[in-house]
Amino acid sequence: MAELLALCGSLRRYSQNRAALQATESLAAPHVGFQWARLAALPLFNPDLEHDLPEAVARLLEQLEAADGLVIASPEYAHGISGVLKNALDWMVSSPAFYQKPVMLINTSPRAHHALDSTREILTTMSANIIDDACVELALLGKGTGLDIAQQPEQQAQLLGGLERFLAVLSDR
Ligand SMILES: Cc1cc2nc3c(=O)[nH]c(=O)nc-3n(C[C@H](O)[C@H](O)[C@H](O)COP(=O)(O)O)c2cc1C
Repeated sequence: MAELLALCGSLRRYSQNRAALQATESLAAPHVGFQWARLAALPLFNPDLEHDLPEAVARLLEQLEAADGLVIASPEYAHGISGVLKNALDWMVSSPAFYQKPVMLINTSPRAHHALDSTREILTTMSANIIDDACVELALLGKGTGLDIAQQPEQQAQLLGGLERFLAVLSDR
């Protein structure tokens, strides 16, 4: 059974990015393991701590190791990637488990291309394996709540298609 790890770059209660990940989790069940990284629990990245890892970071790195693939959804803030996501990626940057880790990116706002481009650049620099065919763009544009996604057949179909293509790549490895 494939194990996926979800990273949500928004801490907002009604986050559309989290909603998109939750919809993906529902579509993946019950044949796929779906874990959530607790990015809010992470301290700010400090390389000095890499030899005496805070518990939340150690947990994240364990989850990273156990995951066959990462599913990432994150907002754009002021044309940049969210600090929440960047902080988590910085903690993972030295982990050998990141090397060639397959990644599915979900972008909930097509106009937010700066953050997406930047996220791709960071992930590529970290030697992740972004599975382009599996990446999904949902035109939510910051409107509505997570419940909307679950009720939108078109968005469900997009997520399911991306997920199926992602799982196909994972099963070939
Ligand atoms: C401080 C702030 C800055 C933002 N900057 C941008 C931006 O530069 N480009 C953009 O497309 N959306 C921007 N947005 C909109 C968010 O990306 C959008 O509301 C998104 O849905 C938030 O993600 P979430 O629903 O998962 O919290 C910004 C929102 C906030 C709060």
